[in-house]
Amino acid sequence: MKPAELRTARLLLRPWRPDDADLLFDIVRRPEVNGWLGSSQRSWTRERVLEGIAADARDTGLERRWAIVPDEVGQPVGSAMIERFPPLLDETGDVHLGWYLHPDAQGHGWVSEAAAALLAHALAAGEPRVWAVMWPHNTASAAVARRIGLTDLGRHVEPWFGTVRYPLGRLFCHWRPGAEHPMAVHARLVAGVELADRDDEPPVGPDGARYPGPP
Ligand SMILES: CC(C)(COP(=O)(O)OP(=O)(O)OC[C@H]1O[C@@H](n2cnc3c(N)ncnc32)[C@H](O)[C@@H]1OP(=O)(O)O)[C@@H](O)C(=O)NCCC(=O)NCCS
Repeated sequence: MKPAELRTARLLLRPWRPDDADLLFDIVRRPEVNGWLGSSQRSWTRERVLEGIAADARDTGLERRWAIVPDEVGQPVGSAMIERFPPLLDETGDVHLGWYLHPDAQGHGWVSEAAAALLAHALAAGEPRVWAVMWPHNTASAAVARRIGLTDLGRHVEPWFGTVRYPLGRLFCHWRPGAEHPMAVHARLVAGVELADRDDEPPVGPDGARYPGPP
């Protein structure tokens, strides 16, 4: 297994490769996928996908994106990633997990299995807190966060990616014993950060629900 790869019971997690570009583009171009990923994630092109794969190859640390390859499929069906929040108020920022799947690959528990492995990977690297943040009406994503044991902190103003028009996120976190409580970190950030109005389009989920949608 190469250093950037992780194994779970049913999955290989490995970097995306240039010859996966068509597969990845076929996932991220779909509104039912990218409609949940935030405004910057909506306008995908094959070129942008290739740029992302090249950037993945340069990532050597904890923060990276993995292709999820179920043994029974033999090719990637989605992504799981560890990213660091934008540093706010001079804090270096905690990490958060992200995930998406091809619609045909949902319902097997593959993302939950991948996300559990990334949670363990981030904690083993010494991260005090590992978050997952989603729009409040993203019930499928919230179910993944719950399934891997993250604590549901509820709907809150979301200081990292929230905007004046769309301020709320559902926040999940796992934190080490003795680490500062995530809501204490959150309170400090929310008190000190002015949300930027940088989202000009109303985010509408694939189900037509408007953000912030129903709980
Ligand atoms: C969020 C998303 C990845 C969840 O996909 P998913 O298939 O529900 O997640 P998993 O792969 O963990 O599978 C869980 C499902 O498989 C089922 N399952 C079957 N076998 C399983 C197993 N061995 N272990 C766990 N779950 C299993 C679970 O019951 C669950 O189905 P249910 O919701 O009908 O109960 C998917 O909806 C998606 O790509 N959405 C668009 C992008 C997105 O929203 N990303 C997150 C942005 S914050």
